[in-house]
Amino acid sequence: MIKRQPITRRTALRVMGAGVAGMALAPHWARGDARDAILKPIPPTGEEIPVIGLGTWRTFNVGDDERAYPPLVQVVEAFFDEGGGMIDCSPMYGSAHNVLQYSFEQLGRPDTLFSADKIWTREGRRTRAQFREIADWWGVETFDLMQVHNLVAWEPHLETLREMKAEGEVRYIGITTSHGRRHADLARIMETEDDIDFVQLTYNITHPEVERRLLPLAEEKGIAVIANRPYDGGSLVRRLKQDAPLPEWADEVDCHDWPQFLLKWIVSHPAVTCAIPATSRVEHLRENMDAGRGRLPDAEQRNRMGEYVRAL
Ligand SMILES: NC(=O)c1ccc[n+]([C@@H]2O[C@H](COP(=O)([O-])OP(=O)(O)OC[C@H]3O[C@@H](n4cnc5c(N)ncnc54)[C@H](OP(=O)(O)O)[C@@H]3O)[C@@H](O)[C@H]2O)c1
Repeated sequence: MIKRQPITRRTALRVMGAGVAGMALAPHWARGDARDAILKPIPPTGEEIPVIGLGTWRTFNVGDDERAYPPLVQVVEAFFDEGGGMIDCSPMYGSAHNVLQYSFEQLGRPDTLFSADKIWTREGRRTRAQFREIADWWGVETFDLMQVHNLVAWEPHLETLREMKAEGEVRYIGITTSHGRRHADLARIMETEDDIDFVQLTYNITHPEVERRLLPLAEEKGIAVIANRPYDGGSLVRRLKQDAPLPEWADEVDCHDWPQFLLKWIVSHPAVTCAIPATSRVEHLRENMDAGRGRLPDAEQRNRMGEYVRAL
């Protein structure tokens, strides 16, 4: 069993160089299925990102034994092969950072990568220290997005992240929660803090609660939305795949399986920027990425999709 260490600055530069070389060896990344990928704009800037990203919570938290890592490297490779953008991680996710570090060592980093991570500590003074620790795992100097995880010590962390954004260490800042009672707190933060770029929250076809207040608020305030737990932790997609037929009319919105159906329903909401399904399996990753291509349902079709699933 090998305990991996964070990448040092010098190693980071070497690995980044290897990544560029690796990309030369893997021209499919440059060619990119990204050409077909549905993109959505991040409201504050208009920068566009693919609507399907990659979560890492339980699926990449596999302990310190590196023998568990290669299958997950294949998942990361397939993600980029399919034109993937956002990868979301957190210090809360155990060895997920080790797996990402190992993956980037093997694969390099394509320029489509949109790095999203989180500050997760009750110590409000540790924002910069934890940021540096996370940056070392990724082997980067700056992040695309840094979020305050689950509203923990959100005031001091947000304040420091604002400074770090002004200093160019992070391009976007955000705040996350999942479902449940913190929604009211998140709404208050979105109403009072004027410079939040992203919120991350739980939104799926069986948990549409955020449609009442948080999604309209995000639209009104011009805040990007990341939908986490798109499969309700996995139970939803597993149950539907096992027990339920797709409706015949699913073809109308280019849904040929349940993962496409569930993810297209989420990312077609006008307020949602992207969804971040997590998986440990390449075949599932490819199914998920297929949801980011083809037609998306309109409002009427979304209603029909929701009613169909809720009636099962
Ligand atoms: N507060 C927060 O900030 C917060 C809270 C929750 C989640 N998140 C983020 O959101 C991400 C996603 O949420 P989640 O991991 O809780 O749950 P999820 O993405 O809803 O579900 C993940 C589960 O779905 C399964 N799965 C994925 N694709 C599949 C497919 N095509 N067919 C069948 N099964 C499939 C995976 O199993 P296999 O490995 O077998 O594919 C895994 O067990 C997290 O990983 C994390 O990055 C953030």
